[in-house]
Amino acid sequence: MRILLLIHGFNSLSQKIFAALEEAGHEVSIEFDINDNLTREAIALFAPDVILAPYLKRAIPADIWQNHFCLIVHPGIVGDRGPSALDRAILRNEARWGVTVLQAVKEMDAGPIWASCEFDMRSASKSSIYRLEVANAALKAVFEALDKVKKGGDIVPLKPMLPAVLQQERMIDWQKDNSETILRKIRASDGVPGVRDGAFYLYDAHRADMSGKAGEILATSGSAICRATKDGAIWIGHMRAKDGEHKFKLPATMLMKLDVPEIALDSEAGYCEISYREQENVGYLRFNFYNGAMSTKQCERLLAAYKKACKRPTKVIVLEGGDDFWSNGIHLNIIEAASSAADESWANINAMNDLSEAIICTDSHLTVAAIGANAGAGGVFLARACDKVWLIKTAILNPHYKDMGNLYGSEFWTYLLPRYCGEENTKRIAAQRLPMGAPEANRLGLVDKVFADNRADFDKETAIYAQEFVQSFTQLLSQKNQRRDSDEAQKPLAEYRAEELAKMRQNFFGFDPSYHVARYNFVHKICKSRTPITLARHRDKRIIKRKVS
Ligand code: COA
Repeated sequence: MRILLLIHGFNSLSQKIFAALEEAGHEVSIEFDINDNLTREAIALFAPDVILAPYLKRAIPADIWQNHFCLIVHPGIVGDRGPSALDRAILRNEARWGVTVLQAVKEMDAGPIWASCEFDMRSASKSSIYRLEVANAALKAVFEALDKVKKGGDIVPLKPMLPAVLQQERMIDWQKDNSETILRKIRASDGVPGVRDGAFYLYDAHRADMSGKAGEILATSGSAICRATKDGAIWIGHMRAKDGEHKFKLPATMLMKLDVPEIALDSEAGYCEISYREQENVGYLRFNFYNGAMSTKQCERLLAAYKKACKRPTKVIVLEGGDDFWSNGIHLNIIEAASSAADESWANINAMNDLSEAIICTDSHLTVAAIGANAGAGGVFLARACDKVWLIKTAILNPHYKDMGNLYGSEFWTYLLPRYCGEENTKRIAAQRLPMGAPEANRLGLVDKVFADNRADFDKETAIYAQEFVQSFTQLLSQKNQRRDSDEAQKPLAEYRAEELAKMRQNFFGFDPSYHVARYNFVHKICKSRTPITLARHRDKRIIKRKVS
């Protein structure tokens, strides 16, 4: 089928659907919902069989849904209507939720239903549930709907549409709300818009093992502040200032200077981002960085934890990433807030490279990147620094930097990709700017093994495969060290690093400001004014020409 994705932005859900539709052999093109006439033009150019809207913020114009078959993905159960579906589900503490695929009609979320899929709710933030449960359910429902396209959908009686959740409904009453309610309010608002609290919006909340006078700030730990509730306390890891110079999400302690006790980061009582555990000759290093972004300091702390793990009498080290992302590379928000963005970018990429280099040069252990969640940009190449990369079936990888103002990228990708993917695939990966699903990542050699479709199974199976790896330790370690020595003799790692960093220096300090502009737009969430040609294939003259000839 020819499927046009009409989207507000190319978010995780749209990326997942795009990759899966392509994998299934459909012809897919994308148009951002910027201007009705541009949408009409896209439809005329592409002549789609179906217009699919997995992430749209406004209604499709009447002449489009009247003349073309349009399906909308709604992140709510059958009968649910309105813009804040998932926010409400979390606020109401629903045990189950779902995704519905409806045909576009005049009234919002009121068309014939083509498919739906439900899931159990998890105690997690809205963004996390959206990226995991909603995305997986949406994928199932979209495929079911496409299968049924010829049969016709079931009409479900209309329920009144609910308006968007207002800040008043999200607002915390520190004297009355207990920890559970506060956590739910912040989780229901995570990603966007956050919970307004005085001069800030709050994000990234976790339960803390402390108590005090409700509302009072009790302590800090790394980037997080601890606030007492009426029955305990919570950590708030990130905030966004309502006014002022930096109106984007930052670590809470960057925005508030406090004179309260500091609790050791990564200790059990603190705001724990990095943790380490061992099981039968395998060390598991988890780094649960908010949004997968890794600042200079976070890279340095992870490197220290990695070096410590290398000193243990284990045989395999598994790098597990975090709950929601494995890694998304350097921390663009912290860079944006720095007094010199170029200097901070430089420090951050060097810290990433130090980590990547330490992994590549590990001669005492076998290493595994167990990617159980999405990863992007430098995060993908950091994973490839490990001897083996294992990927959960449901993940989406974005192994490219170019969308960030033509950033050249580092993390030794110029060594790692030819080494693991071959020259041909390296060229393909370096040229494209598209998300990819697990099958493609496996075909290209970016990952070595793909298994499991939920995180619990993925972690369990990772432990089994890690044990198999332990069995062949002596032989594999010696092969790996020989290969590294011969690679080093051919071209030292330092040379790859210097070449990549020379290009990055140009990106950061050079005359062309593209990277700084792209980062500013990304951090400030400025919508694109046109659909990139890499996505809007119907506008790509090279593709159109190729088809005509
Ligand atoms: N630094 C800071 N924040 C980052 C980040 C980074 N490197 N990567 C992602 N984020 C944040 C996003 O701003 C977003 O924040 P929100 O919670 O306020 O919404 C959140 O993480 C989720 O990202 P989003 O873009 O919504 O997720 P996605 O799944 O749709 O897309 C990526 C994933 C990786 C394609 C996209 O986030 C991206 O392009 N990130 C930048 C990667 C990059 O260029 N890194 C620098 C080079 S190494």
